Amino acid sequence: MTAALIDGNALSKQLRSEVAQRAAALKSRGLTPGLAVVLVGDNPASQVYVRNKVKACEDSGLHSVLEKYDASMSEADLLARVDALNNDPAIHGILVQLPLPAHIDAQKVIEAISPLKDVDGFHIASAGALMTGMPGFWPCTPYGCMKMLESIGYELKGKHAVVIGRSNIVGKPMALMLLQKDATVTICHSRTADLKAQTLQADVIVAAVGRRNVLTADMVKPGAVVLDVGMNRNDEGKLCGDVDFDGVREVAGHITPVPGGVGPMTITMLLVNTLEAAERAALGA
Ligand code: GUN
Repeated sequence: MTAALIDGNALSKQLRSEVAQRAAALKSRGLTPGLAVVLVGDNPASQVYVRNKVKACEDSGLHSVLEKYDASMSEADLLARVDALNNDPAIHGILVQLPLPAHIDAQKVIEAISPLKDVDGFHIASAGALMTGMPGFWPCTPYGCMKMLESIGYELKGKHAVVIGRSNIVGKPMALMLLQKDATVTICHSRTADLKAQTLQADVIVAAVGRRNVLTADMVKPGAVVLDVGMNRNDEGKLCGDVDFDGVREVAGHITPVPGGVGPMTITMLLVNTLEAAERAALGA
């Protein structure tokens, strides 16, 4: 059996057009959703990411501001900028691009962002809201994965999901989202004794490690759904995920490609969160 592809570009297109419609509705009431993207330093990958985020906003009719600062910016000056954006009524979402230069405490900066504008979902208040099932912003990458499962009508109740990776940005929130939908969830990581024994039990596998070929065909139960969060380069310099795509697609029921899978969904969910922040602001929430 060859797995069906879950196309992140097609799903993104659909979700972004819904964002554009909702943004237009808000605009007609005099409120344009606004995202501030803050970049400190000249990390080349970060420059590409922030450009893509700003362009995606423009394409969906959201207002966006890109603030670029020199790598020598002090932590105090950055905190002052975040404070100003917290108090700016034209800005509904604030994203401080990571990584930050080493002299800046990234966690301190994240905690300075108002949870009402934390569209990355990285604030402790956002993490706590996710953990307790309260309203709040969900981190964009795992949120995008949930939308991909929803797009194929996948019922998680009673299924076994294995998340490979335990980062605060993907692995841990992913596990909580799957749990909220009544899956039985196992989190695996670099110290897991027998990864294959775990993944072979899984109906859903999310690979979020940042290393090629973490998941190979012999580790996958026939028909399983495989979501690949990885973004790596192979020996030829081509973009690839954490999953051995060619092998696993012959065993899995559904699989996300890299590129064109989870990647575009991350920015899409940033747009969704920003729109949501603006809609809540419009309600005076
Ligand atoms: N750096 C890489 N990915 C991200 C992201 O999703 N948000 C932020 N703020 N920084 C990042």
